[in-house]
Amino acid sequence: MNKRKVIIDCDPGIDDTLAIMVALSSNELDVKALTIVSGNVHVNKGFKNALQALKIMGRLDIPIYIGDGKPLERELVVAEDTHGVDGIGENFLKDIKDGIVKKGAVNYIIDILNKEKDVSIIALGPLTNLAEVLKKSPNTFNKIVEIVSMGGTFKSHGNCSPVAEFNYWVDPHSVKYIMKNSQVPFHMVGLDVTRECVLTPNYIELLNQLNDEKADFIVKITRFYVDFHWKQEKILGCVINDPLAVLYFINRSLCKGFSAYMDVVTEGIAIGQTVIDSENFYKFKANCNVLTSVDSNMFMKEFLTRILPHKKNEINIILNNKKYSG
Ligand code: BDR
Ligand code: CA
Repeated sequence: MNKRKVIIDCDPGIDDTLAIMVALSSNELDVKALTIVSGNVHVNKGFKNALQALKIMGRLDIPIYIGDGKPLERELVVAEDTHGVDGIGENFLKDIKDGIVKKGAVNYIIDILNKEKDVSIIALGPLTNLAEVLKKSPNTFNKIVEIVSMGGTFKSHGNCSPVAEFNYWVDPHSVKYIMKNSQVPFHMVGLDVTRECVLTPNYIELLNQLNDEKADFIVKITRFYVDFHWKQEKILGCVINDPLAVLYFINRSLCKGFSAYMDVVTEGIAIGQTVIDSENFYKFKANCNVLTSVDSNMFMKEFLTRILPHKKNEINIILNNKKYSG
């Protein structure tokens, strides 16, 4: 199989960790590196969580490159209320000493794009690293095959203000810079679709029953996230945003959407809000594929069976039983 080369730019983060797990379970992907951006936590914590994800997947051979740690113009605001002070559900896991960890995410991305053909980016956090690549080396940036970015929202309400999604709210200037200056196809996997991807208590109980190291790890790191969702939104379970970006990158039939011009608000009460010209008022060229619907059952099937292929039978029993799934 021709694997697709991809860099995962992320801010792990509980759901980033799940996304890395699903990416590394997918033989369609050749994951070249994880690049770390500040978002859910500062990069100095994020890289440690990336190592945890690589460790559980037995892939400490994949290099991690740490980014600069600060959004383009705003001060960094982290989401430790959502992901825990350690960024991975306050389990305070023992630091992993092996692995390949280097500084210079931006230069790494530039180098690999110049050296290798056909590299894409899956962006699971604020777009700071990518905007810096574009500023520094626009010709190189435009070699990216496509960017699938978890962030923004079309009709769904925000998750850190009434109108703004976290990743784009943390660093709206980066989003704006990319939307204005990039020529790379850009897919926005926003809250309209990720909100449909809920790891419900039934799925968590299924994971509990599987007697498997990876399943136990998922349960362990999502506990804090589940509590947060109950406190914040009265949801049982947790919305797992980032794995959808990975799975959409692999399987386009998971989501549907439309092409439109997208821009983002960079100041004032609506800071971070994505403005999507679905009615073509501005008459600007479309710069974004905005995803608006998702097959959430297919998502859950892909998510669970890719990470736990040896537990397919048990997983299918629950997925095929309407009482427990959906
Ligand atoms: C996004 O923000 C972060 O909290 C998650 O990791 C996800 O990337 C959801 O708004
Ligand atoms: Ca993230």
